[in-house]
Amino acid sequence: MADWLPTLITPTPEEGFALAIKMSRVAVKMTQPDAAVRDRLRGTYAEDADALIASSQVAAHWFATVAAANDYWRS
Ligand code: HEM
Repeated sequence: MADWLPTLITPTPEEGFALAIKMSRVAVKMTQPDAAVRDRLRGTYAEDADALIASSQVAAHWFATVAAANDYWRS
């Protein structure tokens, strides 16, 4: 898990969004380190619209952080 987040700076918004997804997933991984449990829960949340919307919301939160760090890719 070392050095998985060296920077919040990304060349494009699209890469920033990919980073936001990664941050969301790493947070889940740190919260539940047991891969077998994560694998088991994957099938449940993948079929649950509310859980998917909640996942999108977490990603949106991280994306706001990444976008701010990149000054909204203005330049
Ligand atoms: C797969 C995002 C929460 C377990 C994925 C994938 C994405 C994703 C984009 C597809 C990866 C691919 O097919 O390339 C998220 C986001 C979450 C979240 C944004 C919100 C925080 C969770 C939770 C669990 C979980 C709560 C279980 C505790 C898994 C597993 C896979 C998966 C086991 C399939 C294996 C893998 O591709 O690594 N997730 N996820 N995720 N997620 Fe989540």
